[in-house]
Amino acid sequence: MKQKIQEKFKSLFATEGTLYMSSGRINLIGEHTDYNGGYVFPGAINFGIMAAIEPNGTDKVKVFSIDFDEYVEFGLREEDKPAQQWARYIFGVCRETIKRGGKVKGFNAVFAGDVPLGAGLSSSAALESVFAFAINEINGNGIEKFELAKIGQSTEHNYCGVKCGIMDQFASIFGKEGSLMRLNCKTGEYKYFPFHPKGYKLVLLDTCVKHELASSAYNKRRESCEKAAAAIKKNHPEVDFLSDAKRVWLDEVRDQISQEDFLRAEYVIGEVQRVLDVCDALERDDYETVGEMMYQTHFGLSRLYEVSCEELDFLNKLARKCDVTGSRVMGGGFGGCTINLVKDELYDAFIKTATEKFTEKFGHAPKIYNVVISDGARKL
Ligand code: GLA
Repeated sequence: MKQKIQEKFKSLFATEGTLYMSSGRINLIGEHTDYNGGYVFPGAINFGIMAAIEPNGTDKVKVFSIDFDEYVEFGLREEDKPAQQWARYIFGVCRETIKRGGKVKGFNAVFAGDVPLGAGLSSSAALESVFAFAINEINGNGIEKFELAKIGQSTEHNYCGVKCGIMDQFASIFGKEGSLMRLNCKTGEYKYFPFHPKGYKLVLLDTCVKHELASSAYNKRRESCEKAAAAIKKNHPEVDFLSDAKRVWLDEVRDQISQEDFLRAEYVIGEVQRVLDVCDALERDDYETVGEMMYQTHFGLSRLYEVSCEELDFLNKLARKCDVTGSRVMGGGFGGCTINLVKDELYDAFIKTATEKFTEKFGHAPKIYNVVISDGARKL
């Protein structure tokens, strides 16, 4: 990847450029809790996006995507928004940096990545983060790391139409080799948790399903949560986010919100508690409890939050049958991967059975990713 980027950069711009890298992410538990002010538990992974970048002395950004085999040029004013979706992420990062008072001078860039697209591993956050990080450095802006994550998040909100939370960009910027991170999305406090589950492997199974309408369905889930939180707030003014609410407080407003909003909120309140239970269990190296919580999360995401799909549910059931310790749909949902915590000795049999049975039913094999918890955004 590195060599390809450097060669292309040289052939297009005749210089070397400086290399930066950022990563995709996994999330052990805490799904759809970020925009509800709850906890998440992600880590950066060994799949990422690498970019060579260099100021070019103009007011234009000139960028080549190796994976899309496409060159795009754009200016830095709001009306210069490029047509290509991939370029909008970079444009958005530039604009959001400028909105925060940062300088953005024109630059040349070439980038490539190995984060599978649409698999729920946050390829878009990796792209935003590598540019947010690099632009901050080459312009000497000194914007702090949490704000760089927010630049990526606002890019999604304002230039890509996804009202996402902060988890993906946080993980991509703050990731540290060998550690998961517990982030309180309300206060921004976070803690690194070294994660080396002895005797277990973390493996992702990618259904290769991508849903076209995922971003509008995602935004709709968020609206449901906000409606439920607003109804609860009438009785309990201290509730700013759904994560502040007790389960019984939700029952009090059952008649004031739709059945759908009720179910979404029920899932979120349960999930907020599960993250805390997983943290406790990890302190005791109690992976059975961690795994059980993962299964409960899957149930909630499938039946209450309704962001699973047939292929994901199939893999989840199969994991249970194969005695996998924990398994659930990971990320926003609507396709993508399951994350599985598997005992070493069961790993081979699980992968074999899952591949065979899934292929039998859906006509193609799931992709298998053995992830390693890795560093986030950095200069190489
Ligand atoms: C997507 C969003 C995140 C988060 C997850 C679900 O990945 O980008 O902010 O909400 O879905 O946990």
